[in-house]
Amino acid sequence: MCGIVGYIGTGAVADILLNGLKNLEYRGYDSAGLALNDNDKISVYKAEGKLFNLTNIINNKEISKETYKGIGHIRWATHGKPTINNAHPHISNDEKLVLVHNGIIENYQELKEKLEKEGFIFHSSTDTETAVHLIDKEYKICNNLEQAVLKAVKQLKGAFAFCIMHQDEPNKIIAVRNHAPLILGLGDNGNFIASDIPAIIGVAKDVIYLDDKEIAVVEDKNLTIKDFDGIIKIKQKEPLNIEEESISKRGYEHFMLKEISEQPDIIRKLLSINMPDFNQPITFGSCDIYNLIKGIEKIEIIACGTSLHASKVAKSMIERLARIPVEVTPASEYIYKTNLTNEKTLSIGISQSGETADTITAVRQAKEAGAKILTITNRPNSNIVRYSDAIIPLHAGIEVSVAATKSYTAQVMVLSLFAISLAEIKDKITKDYALKLKEELKSLPTKMEEVLNNNTEYKNIASSYLDTKNFIYMARGINLATAYEGALKLKEISYINASGYAAGELKHGPIALLDENMPVLAILVPNTSTYSKVLSNCEEAHARHAPIIAVTSKDAELPTNIFKHIIRLPEISEVLSPILYALPMQMLAYYIASLLGREVDQPRNLAKSVTVE
Ligand code: F6R
Repeated sequence: MCGIVGYIGTGAVADILLNGLKNLEYRGYDSAGLALNDNDKISVYKAEGKLFNLTNIINNKEISKETYKGIGHIRWATHGKPTINNAHPHISNDEKLVLVHNGIIENYQELKEKLEKEGFIFHSSTDTETAVHLIDKEYKICNNLEQAVLKAVKQLKGAFAFCIMHQDEPNKIIAVRNHAPLILGLGDNGNFIASDIPAIIGVAKDVIYLDDKEIAVVEDKNLTIKDFDGIIKIKQKEPLNIEEESISKRGYEHFMLKEISEQPDIIRKLLSINMPDFNQPITFGSCDIYNLIKGIEKIEIIACGTSLHASKVAKSMIERLARIPVEVTPASEYIYKTNLTNEKTLSIGISQSGETADTITAVRQAKEAGAKILTITNRPNSNIVRYSDAIIPLHAGIEVSVAATKSYTAQVMVLSLFAISLAEIKDKITKDYALKLKEELKSLPTKMEEVLNNNTEYKNIASSYLDTKNFIYMARGINLATAYEGALKLKEISYINASGYAAGELKHGPIALLDENMPVLAILVPNTSTYSKVLSNCEEAHARHAPIIAVTSKDAELPTNIFKHIIRLPEISEVLSPILYALPMQMLAYYIASLLGREVDQPRNLAKSVTVE
């Protein structure tokens, strides 16, 4: 988690770093800090809480005009509370060496004990400070920052990305990457280091993606990259073709609402990339599905959170359409259980960020067990990709809001196309049925626009539930995953406790919770085998005085007396309904949270990429 930035050049260092941190706020927002270097010394500024606290401090300070380099950090606390002492940058005892870190140093305890015995004084309870003193110790032996860092990193276990500066080596910042993301940006007025692209959009022209066990010496006009043995690596730079506009709110109050509104266009884009012509096979760029599934007897999908819910939708689709058994496992469980994964398994890792530590570890294990690996990600340059045999990109654009919305529907869209494609390859559906599904997919963006245009309705409904403490979301079949996702959206941004249940399970326990204070949202897709059953479950909930919101289709004939609210959506067949039915869940969660005055884009305790296991 955490975000780091570094800059050396002739631009306004503090502003560049603060802007970089602003664009990395999705990675954490417990505390923030900057270290700035002018000609004679390093100054460190830190603040608890959101970035604006640090910005206020910096804006009230006179920053020396001589400042030409600096490093910055935004924290999501792992080791040690989010206090000033624990905030980065951390500084050496002689106040000459500063460092910011993303990751976890696993052997910090034993290193700390050793360093303390040698006289180093620790001021924080972080794992990071160990790295500062260790590098400082090596520096005092060799008097060379690059050599000191190379010696120190070989003693560290765990994941780390660092930016490091030393007062006595004024012309450089050292960047290090090992199992935590780090990129270098090249600009006209200097060079940049960052955890992720948004930090350098608008200032850097090109980007270089560092690999694990690489160190970069970053100077104003020069970059040297080496491996941990000190051997020079020649790496290609890539143009950074991302507009600043793509990470702006574009007039929306929150990124979440902006990202919700982008969904129809993202689905259109995915359709035009993967299914430009109904009569041609669905394609996925460089990913050759036909070869990928040759000899495969089972599919397993590994993911976390919202991506896990997309996986559950995919299981229903693939099993129904292509008749291939699919197992879905939360990545954090996969790592520690017995998995019957082998060379006849296709393991699909789904991760918006491509950085989620649990998913990466699980995918690596699946690869070691002999499985073929397909990765579905929104960040084709991310960490997860290095374990993949094939990638399908989501093309959803940068998702800034911590709560995933557009990446979820993009995942479900890609997985719908994947399921249809598998069914066609395996000859499990008729040509006519495949064509009908494809036609329905083509009509989806317009239907999504229709759903999203009803925002006044969602806002009105949301206003009835602002005093609610608990919520139940229920469904059966393929939309059970939609119910789980709806409940997750609500709880993570509004802090209202919400649970998703298989509607038929309600009577086996959760029904005891029902009364007039327990609203139930029921997903009722007409013309399905479970429709009348979910309706009966709504009757049962109504008999216990629960206020019920039905999310259903325009043509559904519902008994009006049992529902407090009915949300009607355009008609769609059940197997393709999860994308459309996800939208009212997102809108309700958004409006409830925003009417409650919650920090919608940055909910408490969360960060967008969870890079720790
Ligand atoms: C919820 C949310 C998280 C992520 C989860 C996995 O809105 O965003 O539950 O879905 O942390 O993240 P990725 O997909 O990046 O692996």
